[in-house]
Amino acid sequence: MQELVGPCATRAFAISGSKPTDEFAGDYPKLIRPDFHVYYVRLMDIQQRPASRTAIGVAVLRAMHELYDDFPKILSDPVIPLLLDDGVLEKAKANLEWLRASRNMALRSHVVLRSRYAEDCLHEAAVCGVNQYVILGSGFDTFAYRQPGWAAPLRIFEVDHPASQRAKVECLGLSGISLPPNLEFVPADFESTSVRDVLSLSSLDFSAPAFFSCLGVLVYLPTYSIKAIFQLVASFPKPSEIVFTFSQGSYSSGDQSASDSSVADAAAAVGEPWRTYHEPEALGRELVGNGFSQVSFLSPQEAKHLYYRDRRDGLPPPRRIAIARAIV
Ligand SMILES: C[S@@+](CC[C@H](N)C(=O)[O-])C[C@H]1O[C@@H](n2cnc3c(N)ncnc32)[C@H](O)[C@@H]1O
Repeated sequence: MQELVGPCATRAFAISGSKPTDEFAGDYPKLIRPDFHVYYVRLMDIQQRPASRTAIGVAVLRAMHELYDDFPKILSDPVIPLLLDDGVLEKAKANLEWLRASRNMALRSHVVLRSRYAEDCLHEAAVCGVNQYVILGSGFDTFAYRQPGWAAPLRIFEVDHPASQRAKVECLGLSGISLPPNLEFVPADFESTSVRDVLSLSSLDFSAPAFFSCLGVLVYLPTYSIKAIFQLVASFPKPSEIVFTFSQGSYSSGDQSASDSSVADAAAAVGEPWRTYHEPEALGRELVGNGFSQVSFLSPQEAKHLYYRDRRDGLPPPRRIAIARAIV
């Protein structure tokens, strides 16, 4: 992971570093109501946090999939290579051994699978008339910039930590990728602010159904922030839903567990330690307790059947459950 985030991170930090924090902090009073003086002060504090390096790391993995894995792609994402610094792509291309290492393959596979599965579920929801898509911890997610025709009625909300979001917006500008009119950026720190309060200042309609995704984020959050996210989604009208990933965290057996453990170590090494783990059974009970009427987990067998049939590039299907879907 450290290898992965290097050059690209340099670009993102260089961008962030050029105008440290004032610009975003100056914007906040417009986004957060003027009477939220306390929020303003706290937001000034959290600006000290750098842009997420794990967000850049997974973006690189998606680019590697787009550029080097076989067709059909699990996730077709022609935008992500455009968002990244040429240097990092060249470095990865020059290191095919790294690209083909089994742990890297497993992680790349997980990263593209979770986005593909979330977008397939979103498609189903959109067909049923859900027209709000909230991407929690959006990182370098590119759905908004490669929207298929069925997404036209959607309003899309990218919610991320202010530092990460700022780096992404600047990368988008540098890459010349235009912002679609149905996209809104909502900066929020899930730990120090109420995501509900922050979203209530956006144009998100709390009285209409919404589809939420939260991919590769929960492991970084404390339990109270995760609970707040579940409660937020559950408060939306039927058939709102959330697709999210989690880590089971027990590293005792199986290749994927070992791989999870090494990913967690790499994330900790770049200052983003994994903090929260879930077991599917207890998670299912928690979601039902929060008011969700249907909870399902993407099983390895189902994932293999849906997305990995006839692959010849060695991209492995998941070995254990890490993706959940909960419908209000
Ligand atoms: C590993 S990245 C995943 C990004 C994206 N979901 C994807 O799959 O490409 C984790 C994301 O969680 C965000 N994040 C972590 N802690 C956060 C917090 N306390 N508040 C808001 N966002 C946070 C980071 O900014 C980063 O964008």
